[in-house]
Amino acid sequence: MTTSPHVAADAFAARYDRSPDGVWQGPGRVNLIGEHTDYNDGFVFPFAIDRNTVVAVGARDDRSVRMSSDFADAPATVSLDDLDVDELAAGTLEGWSAYPFGVIWALRHFGADLSTVPGFDAHVSSDVPAGAGLSSSAALMCAVAVALNDEWQLGFDAPTLARVGQLAENKAVGAPTGIMDESASLFGRRDHGVFLDCRSLDTEVIELGFEDAGLELLVMNTRVDHAHATGGYAERRASCEKGARLMGVASLRDLDIDDLTRAERELDDETFRRVRHIVTENQRVLDTVRTLRTEGPRAIGDLLDASHVSMRDDFEISVPELDLAVETAQKCGAVGARMTGGGFGGAAIALVAHDRIDETKDAVEAAFAKAGFRAPDCFTVHPADAAGRAL
Ligand code: GLA
Repeated sequence: MTTSPHVAADAFAARYDRSPDGVWQGPGRVNLIGEHTDYNDGFVFPFAIDRNTVVAVGARDDRSVRMSSDFADAPATVSLDDLDVDELAAGTLEGWSAYPFGVIWALRHFGADLSTVPGFDAHVSSDVPAGAGLSSSAALMCAVAVALNDEWQLGFDAPTLARVGQLAENKAVGAPTGIMDESASLFGRRDHGVFLDCRSLDTEVIELGFEDAGLELLVMNTRVDHAHATGGYAERRASCEKGARLMGVASLRDLDIDDLTRAERELDDETFRRVRHIVTENQRVLDTVRTLRTEGPRAIGDLLDASHVSMRDDFEISVPELDLAVETAQKCGAVGARMTGGGFGGAAIALVAHDRIDETKDAVEAAFAKAGFRAPDCFTVHPADAAGRAL
């Protein structure tokens, strides 16, 4: 399932009474493995999914930007002159429009000359659920970034656009996130995962082979809301920085499994467990990529399961709903299962035999009902192509 570019084009025409110049799309992502490793200079292995944010754009003959969407009543407006600045004045960007307008500001930060570009009208449609841990924010920002890169002929490459999206999220939205989500959205390829070294920013797409192995990726959205601009996410990031500092390394990427004995001796228990998650998770990413290549996707289940245990017990970013989804999928015979994304809510994923998807969904729904949890939203996703022009 994918939001059709025609949906956004038609909504644009209805709202602005003309046709758009073009339509661009940005996919959400699932992180297969490598959680909270991105801002520790480590390894991640996400893939872009067949759920998209689509943006229809048409140039204006003044410097205004108007952005409407299927999910907000009134269009958000801003003048390009207000974004053509080094620092954003407080209150310039609010609500959902902080994401797209933040991208404009960040494009300038990376060297785009905005002084003469025309304003534009845009309409956004999306089928990436917000708050589900599938990176609806990166989908939106990457769709807008590729759209403006084309529309204004800026000539930025994909690695730079990924950094534009990350900067917008860090500075305009205030969420101290890493580079993973934008990279997945900008480098994804159908049937492939994006193996990213977050220190060198080297990316390699690696065939996942789910379909050939008779497997599908089930997303189990707990519908427990989470936000990364507040609370736990920033705290975990601070713990990792503290761990690196106390261990005398630039980042936790510089530690490996053999360093954990010293870490346990020198760090307080909580910091040690945060560090152990990152160090073992980096190793699990490398092991997952190697195992996929040598044995195929049916052999990566134990690594996914171990990743969940590490996030639950060491990094402490899971919630009871995520644990229940994971355990239930495992009981139904999933190859492997884990929570995905920043944590504290959002979605878990399970790699499941194609003919057991319905049974697994039913079991997760029944388990949630029995536990008195809000009904989850379970659906399959498929590894899909990167952000780009759709119409
Ligand atoms: C969020 C952030 C990412 C990454 C994950 C955790 O999705 O946006 O940068 O840190 O959490 O792996």
